[in-house]
Amino acid sequence: MSKFTAANVPEHVAIIMDGNGRWANSRGLPRTMGHRKGVEAVREAVRTAGEIGIRYLTLFAFSSENWRRPEAEVSDLMGLLKAFIRRDLAELHTQNVRVRVIGDRKNLRGDVLPLLLEAEDTTRGNTGVTLVIAFNYGSRDEMTRAMQSLALDVAQGRLAPEQITSETISSRMDTAGIPDPDLILRTSGEERLSNFLLWQAAYAELIFVSELWPDFTREVFLAALEKYGRRERRFGGLSQPQTLAVGS
Ligand code: FPP
Repeated sequence: MSKFTAANVPEHVAIIMDGNGRWANSRGLPRTMGHRKGVEAVREAVRTAGEIGIRYLTLFAFSSENWRRPEAEVSDLMGLLKAFIRRDLAELHTQNVRVRVIGDRKNLRGDVLPLLLEAEDTTRGNTGVTLVIAFNYGSRDEMTRAMQSLALDVAQGRLAPEQITSETISSRMDTAGIPDPDLILRTSGEERLSNFLLWQAAYAELIFVSELWPDFTREVFLAALEKYGRRERRFGGLSQPQTLAVGS
C-alpha cells in the first residue's frame, strides 16, 4: 500500500506547526479557532507517523517566546494542550504512543506540569511512536540549561573539561536518548528554524511546505516524506567513491 520502505522513512521527524492564526484570519475567525483546528491536524499527524513507521515525532507546541503573545491567546494554548492530554491520553496509550515532553519545566502554570508528567508516566512503557511535545521550549534556553549543568559538574570536580564531548552535551539536552531529527518540517511557507532544535538539527533535512498547519493533512505529510526520500544525505562525506583530479 505504501511506497515507504524502512530505508527511506525518517526515524525522527520534527515539525514547526505554523500558520494557525493565518488559517483563522483568512476565514474571518478568531485565532483560537485556528489553534483548535490545529489540534485536529496534530491527531492526524500522530496517526500518520504510526502508520508509516516513523519512530519519533516532535511537535513544537509552545515556544519559550510564545509567552509574549496576548494573555488570552497564551491561556487558550495552555487550555488546548491540557484538553488534548485529558481527552487523548487514553487513545494515545491504546495506540502504543509514548509521550515525552521537552522544554523548561520551571514556571509552568499550576495544572500543566502534572498533566505532562502524567502523560509521560502513563505511556513510559509504550513501544510505538514517541510523540515528543516541545512545550515552553526554546533551543537556546535548552542549551543554556545544558551548559549550566555541565559547568556545575566541572566546578564541583565531577567532570574534567576535556571529558566534555559532543555526546556529553547531547546527553544534557532535554532530548537525551532521542536520536537527532532526520527531517525538520515547517508549515505555512516560512523558512526558518525559530530557535527549534538548533543543536540537534546539525544534519537534518529541512522541508518547508506552503500549507498552513490546520491544512496539514495525511496527504501533505506523505508528499513531504516522499520529497525527503529523494534527498541524498551525506553527513559531510561523499555519496560514492570519487576520483580526485590531480593537477599536472
Ligand atoms: C503557530 O501558529 C502555532 C502555535 C504557536 C501553536 C501550535 C499549537 C497547536 C497546534 C495546538 C496545541 C498543541 C498540541 C500538541 C495539542 P501561529 O499562531 O503562529 O500562526 P500564524 O503565524 O499564522 O499567526
